[in-house]
Amino acid sequence: MIAATLPEPDDFEAWREEARRLVTQGHAPHEVSWREAGESADLFAARPAPSPAPAPSPAPATSTRTVRANRTFLERARLAILHRDGARLDLLYRILWRLQDEPRLLDDPADPDACALHALVRQVRRDIHKMRAFVRFRAVRDATGDPHYLAWFEPDHRIERANAAFFRDRFASQRWSILTPRLTLHWDGKSLNEAPPARREDVPAHDATEDLWLGYYRAIFNPARLKVGAMVKEMPRRYWKNLPEAAQIPALIAGAQQREVRMIASGSGPAENAPPASREALAQALAQCRRCPIGCNGTAPVPGEGPLSPQLLILGEQPGDTEERTGRPFVGPAGELLDTHLAHAGIAREQAYVTNAVKHFKFERQGKRRLHQNPTANEIDHCRWWLEAERALVRPRAVLALGASAGRALLGRTPSIGRERGGPIPLPDGTPMWLTVHPSYLLRLDGAAGTRETERFKADLALVSAHLAREHPLHTPA
Ligand code: URA
Repeated sequence: MIAATLPEPDDFEAWREEARRLVTQGHAPHEVSWREAGESADLFAARPAPSPAPAPSPAPATSTRTVRANRTFLERARLAILHRDGARLDLLYRILWRLQDEPRLLDDPADPDACALHALVRQVRRDIHKMRAFVRFRAVRDATGDPHYLAWFEPDHRIERANAAFFRDRFASQRWSILTPRLTLHWDGKSLNEAPPARREDVPAHDATEDLWLGYYRAIFNPARLKVGAMVKEMPRRYWKNLPEAAQIPALIAGAQQREVRMIASGSGPAENAPPASREALAQALAQCRRCPIGCNGTAPVPGEGPLSPQLLILGEQPGDTEERTGRPFVGPAGELLDTHLAHAGIAREQAYVTNAVKHFKFERQGKRRLHQNPTANEIDHCRWWLEAERALVRPRAVLALGASAGRALLGRTPSIGRERGGPIPLPDGTPMWLTVHPSYLLRLDGAAGTRETERFKADLALVSAHLAREHPLHTPA
């Protein structure tokens, strides 16, 4: 029997190198005894025999034999090795061995080895997804007073390292640590490092942003769409103990029917919640939001900027590439055009609060470029809670909505700009809103259409400016 030892149970490259060597030397699966570093020989010997399927004997090996492993196998094996099943290394080797004579083995849905591999991969993928969805950070202050985000997570499989790049890319500008029973991942803003295992108690049970997060969760919990089975499938109960929002679920489910009746009676959406106490709290909570696919795409959210109690709130659609990189709204090409027209209309941007309907940048990658994609109505509706929280905090006296997405975020329906521009349209709390096109629409036009639409845009801004002059005598329209 040949002993093959992995330095780490998730070290795929070490397994690959060793497996290649063993196949090259012609060692059939029943001759090889796989184990992980630290695993005792006795324990290993106590394992069930590794070969449920008979291992055919490839032609006698020579040291020059080429080892065949197609891309499908390598991709699956890279994931399967992360599974906690102690028999996975035997399975992988057996499949690699068989692939030498049966290159289409993994295409056979009835083959027990192919099925077993598929099942391991499915469970590991699901665990990876759950970690991305259910890690909840808590903010603590380090010795210098800077925020550091800590999270506790208990994966079913050894997926921590495989998931590290996702969290690094998603929270690149923050310093964070994910603590698990197997190891700790640290990101200091520049490099990823590992530390020994931790305990759940090493992460605070509560932080300042938690109430805001819980409020958000209650708000987007729509009783009219409640499907308990689907919800528990997506958020299995074993994760609940580490999810602050989970404690609310039984009560929310229990109250769902009454809430639905109330919502229908009032014609409103899900319940309102207390707004955040500060913009800092809002920004921190936003950074953790992943309630829609845009929030999960790994970019940093861009909160609004500007004074509190402004005369005007200017609402765009979503941050673009430049905005996401700088963390500020409307600083790219559309922002420059907006600034030009605001100045022309006599509206001081620095006295307005500028923000977006959707707080994360939605894009499609093309080479190195990130190309803007429109948010869906559903994504805008999910993000409305943040806009409402922002409005409750900022309390603007008038609103300018740029484009249909901004209009939808404020009105709860997609407006027709052609019919509804010229306003004001009163929002439910009485705040007057003006609706016009988005400046990026003007950037896409040229010739006569460009000139005509630009004039209409200027006329819309002039109406807002005239309103500000009436309401606020110190404002001088252009
Ligand atoms: N477009 C928007 O709608 N918002 C921005 O912040 C930038 C471009």
